[in-house]
Amino acid sequence: MSSIKLREFRTNDWEAVHRYASLDEVCKYQPWGPNSVADSKAYVDDILFASKQTPRTRFAYAITKNNSVIGACEVNLRNAQEKIGELSYILNPEWWGNGIATEVGKMLLLFSFKDLGLHRVIGTCDERNIASSRVMEKIGMKKEGLLENHLLIRDGWRNSLRYSLTYEEWASAN
Ligand SMILES: CC(C)(COP(=O)(O)OP(=O)(O)OC[C@H]1O[C@@H](n2cnc3c(N)ncnc32)[C@H](O)[C@@H]1OP(=O)(O)O)[C@@H](O)C(=O)NCCC(=O)NCCS
Repeated sequence: MSSIKLREFRTNDWEAVHRYASLDEVCKYQPWGPNSVADSKAYVDDILFASKQTPRTRFAYAITKNNSVIGACEVNLRNAQEKIGELSYILNPEWWGNGIATEVGKMLLLFSFKDLGLHRVIGTCDERNIASSRVMEKIGMKKEGLLENHLLIRDGWRNSLRYSLTYEEWASAN
């Protein structure tokens, strides 16, 4: 049985976050980072603040293995009327290549559709981010298209692949 668990963040988790969020390879395709200590502390503080909002729209969780934080994942409510949420995930590179993000992605879909009652879950990644696009494909999301010049990152405007899955598609496959 897998020992991967998701839990709410705690203030001191910034240290575990910083161990990966300060690395170039982790934020290569992201608009943020590499993080300073202050950045990693602010990231956890923002998550804690968002977790207390009513209604809550940001559901960010620490990914733990054997009680250690090895990454983070989120579902963000993008459109309450149309019940659309966006998922994302990040892992400490020490744990890459073990199927963990795929397992977490499946947990996020279950949470989105069963707990949040969403109609559609979307996800985007840099078109060069093969690992992330594979994760979305492996959890059953469908590639919808390419968003050109979607996000400004360190090496310029990033083209993003957009993936999507509706509740009906997910339910018929699970
Ligand atoms: C994306 C990320 C979470 C994947 O985590 P992971 O636990 O290693 O992912 P998994 O092991 O579940 O699956 C990765 C898949 O990508 C494949 N993959 C990884 N790197 C690859 C590469 N360079 N070329 C081709 N395939 C690659 C793996 O082989 C695997 O697919 P497979 O099972 O079909 O072989 C991790 O790489 C990460 O944290 N990256 C930095 C943050 C990030 O990009 N997050 C996504 C934001 S959109």
